[in-house]
Amino acid sequence: MPDTSASPFLRACRREPVPHTPVWFMRQAGRSLPEYRALRAGIPMLAACRTPDLVVEITLQPVRRHGVDAAILFSDIVVPLKAIGVDLDIKPGVGPVIAQPIRSREGLEVLRPLEPPDGAAVAEAVRSTVAELGATPLIGFAGAPFTLASYLVEGGPSRGHERTKALMYGDPDLWHDLLGRLAVIAGAFLRIQVEAGACAVQLFDSWAGALSEVDYRRYVLPHSATVLASVADLGVPRIHFGVGTGELLAAMAEAGADVVGVDFRVPLDEAARRVGPGCALQGNLDPAVTFAPWPAVEEQTRQVLDRGAGLAGHIFNLGHGVLPETDPDVLARIVDLVHEVSAR
Ligand code: CP3
Repeated sequence: MPDTSASPFLRACRREPVPHTPVWFMRQAGRSLPEYRALRAGIPMLAACRTPDLVVEITLQPVRRHGVDAAILFSDIVVPLKAIGVDLDIKPGVGPVIAQPIRSREGLEVLRPLEPPDGAAVAEAVRSTVAELGATPLIGFAGAPFTLASYLVEGGPSRGHERTKALMYGDPDLWHDLLGRLAVIAGAFLRIQVEAGACAVQLFDSWAGALSEVDYRRYVLPHSATVLASVADLGVPRIHFGVGTGELLAAMAEAGADVVGVDFRVPLDEAARRVGPGCALQGNLDPAVTFAPWPAVEEQTRQVLDRGAGLAGHIFNLGHGVLPETDPDVLARIVDLVHEVSAR
């Protein structure tokens, strides 16, 4: 396996000195790239995720085009749920849709543990991707229990997470059983990726920002902590990210993160104060900034770097995923600018 341990990305995760601030983008592999759209034409999302050759090629596309410092595996947070037999699909322009939403104890039965054979296609894709990437590190990922639960309970994407919260407040025993099962599945999914060669993991709790800190700590944190603890022995950096989580940053660090992902609402120096010592930070350019004229993009990018300059351990990223309409040339220019401005 190629040695990536001296890469700027992994050094920054470990809060070691770096030659330049490393940069990658959440959702860097996807619809903003014409070569992605060409490759995916006529192939449903989940079928693409089960086809190792496609996964390798799509994962590599943004690395070639943008020169980012890390790759993230092309997959989805619902892939392990599909692998254990949950009846779901990813609808274009919508997101994951669940045939039979889980709202009762009987509904939990489908959530059996993820076994290594269920992850065979993912493991094969990771091994081939790592071989192709050479010195560029590969990030594996999973959806965190709360975000997965929201899709499973609502049946699809939701703004208010009403049914999810109704279950959480109304039947805490069932809730903790549900999140406990999801934590085991997410932990196993991360382990499969790391054992196949991923050298960092990111736990996406995209919708955790819908909760108060008190409720996050009571209903969610213990389960996300289980996921992060379940890969602690593997020795890879663990990134913990959510959107609108300004009030949760300390709690998300406490859950067992080595790196906390920060969305664009809280500047990095303030995020560092909230997170406390010991963690690196990842973020946090507003993805919508990429639609502004270049001088504004440059100013905003420099501002993120300035706010992160005092940290031991900053990984430049967007505050959430690349938007499908983003001009990929702007992303490549941001990578160059970050490397140039931060060169030490
Ligand atoms: O480049 C990367 O970041 C790696 C690939 C990746 C995808 N999904 C591919 C994808 C990652 C890390 C994810 C994680 C994911 N999936 C999250 C957490 C990250 C976040 O953005 O908050 C969530 C909430 C999902 C669920 C999901 N899957 C959504 C909301 C969507 C978008 C629906 C749409 O069409 O707008 C998907 C589908 C999906 N996952 C696409 C991609 C590239 C688009 C599907 C397509 O191209 O047809």
